[in-house]
Amino acid sequence: MSVIYGERVRLRAVEREDVKRFFVWVNDPEVTRHLSLYLPLSTVDEENWFDSLGKRDPREKPLAIEIRDGGGWKLIGNCSVFDIDSISRQAELGIMIGEKEEWNKGYGAETMTLLLRHCFETLNLNRAYLRVYAGNERGKRAYQKAGFVVEGRLREAVYKCGKYDDVIVMGALRSEWIARKKER
Ligand SMILES: CC(C)(COP(=O)(O)OP(=O)(O)OC[C@H]1O[C@@H](n2cnc3c(N)ncnc32)[C@H](O)[C@@H]1OP(=O)(O)O)[C@@H](O)C(=O)NCCC(=O)NCCS
Repeated sequence: MSVIYGERVRLRAVEREDVKRFFVWVNDPEVTRHLSLYLPLSTVDEENWFDSLGKRDPREKPLAIEIRDGGGWKLIGNCSVFDIDSISRQAELGIMIGEKEEWNKGYGAETMTLLLRHCFETLNLNRAYLRVYAGNERGKRAYQKAGFVVEGRLREAVYKCGKYDDVIVMGALRSEWIARKKER
């Protein structure tokens, strides 16, 4: 798989040296507030995670999110397509922008738009979906901008920070992707 380029963002394969930044992000309570990460993680946990990637379906390997930085690129997060169902041609998407100073600049929406293009035009899927905690207003707005629509609500499906929260399922269909592309 080659690098996936957008206007301001590119998605490339994760390298072992990225794990040092991931370690910082997955231990930052603000970053993990709306993620299903609960316990402190060690550098060894992160290295073991990286080592386990070799066994994954290549289509499901996480991708590093980078933005332009002067003449080079800056790592700001990671994302992935996972649980690919080849019969129903659908998969779940996930994203974490760990560099908090880069939140609210449109990179999340652009990354999810790129992942949708990847799902529909490269992996030949028909539906992509994600699960977002109801309290994650930034996430819900970013996904809406990328073309996801709310499909349902799983009530009190997650327990985080001392309380239950609903989980919202958002999805995008290939037909909607094609219609949006014609509008652009
Ligand atoms: C969630 C996440 C992917 C969003 O990416 P992002 O680059 O910050 O989002 P974008 O800039 O593309 O879009 C954010 C939108 O939410 C809006 N927003 C931010 N905080 C908000 C709030 N409290 N209420 C309503 N809207 C809010 C922003 O104004 C922006 O909308 P606009 O462009 O119409 O102004 C990113 O912040 C992240 O990874 N956070 C930490 C981990 C996480 O929550 N992952 C997702 C789990 S499902």
